[in-house]
Amino acid sequence: MLEDLLKKRRSIRKFTDEKVTDDQIREIIEAALYAPSGMGKTPWEFLVLSDPEDMKKAALAKKDQPVFEDKGSHLILVLTDKEKSQTYIEDSAIVSFLMQEKISELGLGSCWIHLRERSTPSIKDSEEYLRQTFNIPEKFAICQMLVLGHIGEEKDDKEPADFESKVHFDRYK
Ligand SMILES: Cc1cc2nc3c(=O)[nH]c(=O)nc-3n(C[C@H](O)[C@H](O)[C@H](O)COP(=O)(O)O)c2cc1C
Repeated sequence: MLEDLLKKRRSIRKFTDEKVTDDQIREIIEAALYAPSGMGKTPWEFLVLSDPEDMKKAALAKKDQPVFEDKGSHLILVLTDKEKSQTYIEDSAIVSFLMQEKISELGLGSCWIHLRERSTPSIKDSEEYLRQTFNIPEKFAICQMLVLGHIGEEKDDKEPADFESKVHFDRYK
């Protein structure tokens, strides 16, 4: 059941040293390639980092984030082509969430790291920094990246938001 999977996905920010395999990375991205996208334009591409030195460099784009206390096995940068689609932000979010669900289904953990319109004290524009560091063409937005790996912290199952206060029928109440 879908809810069983949704309950299990939590943001994971601590990881063990075990590496995620290339086959698992492929499975994760292959699942996300089913994502719907505005006008079916599939504007996303993925840059997968696993070299610890590269991951350290990428971490500088968001170094104020606790997620990098314990770096994980891989980082997946979600690139979306701004020239290809006006819905690149939404498309990027959907494909990222699907990856998170697949990661969770494989018994692994991930955390979403927001990049769009972000800076750090030393880096003016997180996306631009990543484009320059990893040779990513200017046309790509990098709205977020996912850090993933073997889970190194315990989390309870996800509780859903409260239906009564979130849902309105007929008129806003
Ligand atoms: C759009 C979006 C942006 C997020 N940005 C970050 C982030 O930059 N750093 C971080 O540690 N977590 C980030 N998260 C993870 C959220 O903090 C997390 O999903 C939320 O606290 C709920 O916890 P859960 O994922 O365990 O259900 C982001 C999540 C989303 C959906």
